[in-house]
Amino acid sequence: MATRSTIRIFSAAAVSDGAGVKLKRSIGLGPDNRLDPFLLLDEMDSEEGSDYLGGFPMHPHRGFETVTYMIEGKMRHEDSMGNSGLLVSGGAQWMTAGRGIIHSEMPEQEGGRLHGFQLWVNLPAADKMQAPRYQDIEPARIPELDLGSGAHARLIAGQLADGVGPVEGIGTQPLFVDLSLAENAHVEIPLPESHNAFVYCFEGAVRVGEDYVRDDHAAILSSGGAARLHSDSGGRCLLLAAKPIGEPVVQHGPFVMNTSEEIDRAMAAYREGTFVDGG
Ligand code: CO
Repeated sequence: MATRSTIRIFSAAAVSDGAGVKLKRSIGLGPDNRLDPFLLLDEMDSEEGSDYLGGFPMHPHRGFETVTYMIEGKMRHEDSMGNSGLLVSGGAQWMTAGRGIIHSEMPEQEGGRLHGFQLWVNLPAADKMQAPRYQDIEPARIPELDLGSGAHARLIAGQLADGVGPVEGIGTQPLFVDLSLAENAHVEIPLPESHNAFVYCFEGAVRVGEDYVRDDHAAILSSGGAARLHSDSGGRCLLLAAKPIGEPVVQHGPFVMNTSEEIDRAMAAYREGTFVDGG
């Protein structure tokens, strides 16, 4: 069984999105930094309210899934279907935007640390216009796994060791792991051979095979049946893997379709107010 190595390691870059929220973007820093089916990964991490208070007021999504994972802090979401919910420290939300949703994601705090991630996962053509769907995952539903040798994981989606993540029914069969490695920890994570995978380090440093992946860096992995991760002095990372879709990707902001005609249709429908009905 081939063990995965790193193909490319790159640094996240500072960007601003929503109403002036300061973010670190890695996957999705331009079309060359996507990894099918992953379109984007943003990390938000600040103790200064001014970096995040603007939040993400009402905005649309069509054609993919948005995944929010909170490490620390509170975000409230509200959407065009009348859903409202509060994401708290350690919780997650997997939103399948499908044909269209208009929602807001706003910090529910004036100050203090807000630390979390947003991941965008593409949908295949056949699923892009499905009805929108939410999976709100409370922190207690996320299995905490002791993987031995100083490695601990929170499993948001997929299977690992004797754990099953709470997110269900996602066609790209994602594995979403928040992996904490103590000093001198090591772990081997089995991965489906055909899945694309990457690691994003957000504390300390981890080693994947021979290569160090440091804080705020993403590493795209080669194919193979497992990834071996080590840490010298401690580190924490997200490990993401999913089945590639292999279709053309045409993105315009929060719309991700297969053709520019479909993008034009989404923008026209948004202007005309027929967007959430699939116009
Ligand atoms: Co959104």
